[in-house]
Amino acid sequence: MATPKRDAAAEQLTQQSKKHQVDKDVITANWGTAVAGKDASLTVGYNGPILLQDYTLIDEIAHFTRERIPERVVHAKGAGAFGYFEVTHDISQYSAAKVFSEIGKKTPIAVRFSQVAGELGYADTVRDIRGFAIKFYTDEGIWDLVGNNQPVFFVKDCALFPSFIHVVKRNPATHLRPDYDMFWDMVTLRAETTHTTMIFFGDRGIPASYRKMHGFGTNTYAFVNAEGKFFYCKFHHVCQQPIENLTSEEAQRIAGIDPDYHTRDLYNAIENGDYPAWNMYVQIMTPEQAAASPYDPFDDTKVWLRSEYPLIPVGRFVLNKNPNNYFAQIEQIGFDPAHLVPGIEPSPDRMLQGRLFAYGDTHRYRLGPNYLQFPVNRPFKVTNFSRDGDATYHSQGGAPVYHPNSFRGPEDDRRARALAPVLPLNGDVKRIDSGGDDNFTQPGLLYRRVMNEGEKQRLADNIVSWLARANTVIQERTITNILNKVDEDLGRRVREGINNSQPHATVDL
Ligand code: HEM
Repeated sequence: MATPKRDAAAEQLTQQSKKHQVDKDVITANWGTAVAGKDASLTVGYNGPILLQDYTLIDEIAHFTRERIPERVVHAKGAGAFGYFEVTHDISQYSAAKVFSEIGKKTPIAVRFSQVAGELGYADTVRDIRGFAIKFYTDEGIWDLVGNNQPVFFVKDCALFPSFIHVVKRNPATHLRPDYDMFWDMVTLRAETTHTTMIFFGDRGIPASYRKMHGFGTNTYAFVNAEGKFFYCKFHHVCQQPIENLTSEEAQRIAGIDPDYHTRDLYNAIENGDYPAWNMYVQIMTPEQAAASPYDPFDDTKVWLRSEYPLIPVGRFVLNKNPNNYFAQIEQIGFDPAHLVPGIEPSPDRMLQGRLFAYGDTHRYRLGPNYLQFPVNRPFKVTNFSRDGDATYHSQGGAPVYHPNSFRGPEDDRRARALAPVLPLNGDVKRIDSGGDDNFTQPGLLYRRVMNEGEKQRLADNIVSWLARANTVIQERTITNILNKVDEDLGRRVREGINNSQPHATVDL
């Protein structure tokens, strides 16, 4: 029979079975003893009920009914892989983190790519931001750099993050998404969303592959060097594969044929030895430059201009190993922007500050209090006073569980203490809404200086495909209050598009 050529993902079981050709394993219960028979339950005669003493059956069914855990509240659909980070340039003048300590040093990493709004089974090729999260298993603990494929984000104060996510998720009454009124209502009421909205509806809104997009730390972080000197920084991961995006039409067609398109693409590339790679760069701003900056360097709706803060090379990372169990290694991986190492610190970026709380909190709910003991999340060494709790695997060898103690328990680390920055801060405690800061200069530059004619028209068309479905008051507000302020040419194109739009035209998912 003629079989079409199959890809590495389709061949997974065949390849796996080749490794087990000699000895077949016996079926065991979850506690390891052999099962007497797998094809039939234990009954009293042919038509009799099943016995409670069929405990291997009960064990299997009881495990099956607990197979699923809550999916991530955002970034539920994703794919991941393993590899390494290698230092190519010396940045010890900025950071004392050991992960950067010498050229050539390699650190194992795990990376998870994702989309933000859809659920676990959603199609990959949707118009959305893509998550780009990296876990570094460093000598001095886990460092998670949890960013996106865009340099900016929709809102800048974590107080607005749950609301923004609600408007891109399902309408709770209709259970439908996108809800065009919710989305454009929020965009027009919070103009700081403009910059990311432009990228969301631009060509980069639907990457062709997780391997063919750049990555960004997006939020502002801080570095501390060995002398205790402090710098602010932004991370950039420059893709070493050609950047490729999908048009709305291509993306919709693929979503119908292969909803797991990005996941399959990443798996096959790695299985075929076509290892994706990115070069890591940082932008550095001194505290003095930050104080004098005309725009807020901690506002994640703005970029730091590269002409003023050039990209400084740091290293490269490569993905060369697929997970062998998606659930254990990718569904249970827990990234957290609060997982930092000495030499890397948070900045006052208000979005980052909120994130420092959110991830550990959600992991303890989604994965349990001991999720950091799972093999994929575990650092090389943990020596502290935390013990026990749900699903404990490690007891730290009977070491003391209290501090201070007289029994050679772990002690404070002088290096970590020396690298902990001392920040002189003062100010009035109050809620300051910075949403009215200049929201249109950078989107205007993006439109006029970066986008060519084709990109401008596709941006307008993609906006029309969502905006034409919103109510007319919100449509008008979007054109007048947002798009015209980016550039009147954009407002004009969108107005024309809406006037000409077909009521049943297709729309991005
Ligand atoms: C205060 C604002 C934010 C909050 C409260 C928040 C919260 C969350 C939560 C609860 C998750 C699910 C984590 C899990 O269950 O594993 C998540 C995932 C994620 N977030 Fe955020 N987030 C915020 C802002 C951001 C920003 C600004 C970015 C990008 C720079 C970002 C990037 C990601 C990524 C990439 C993931 C997926 C991580 C993975 O692959 O497991 N988030 N976020």
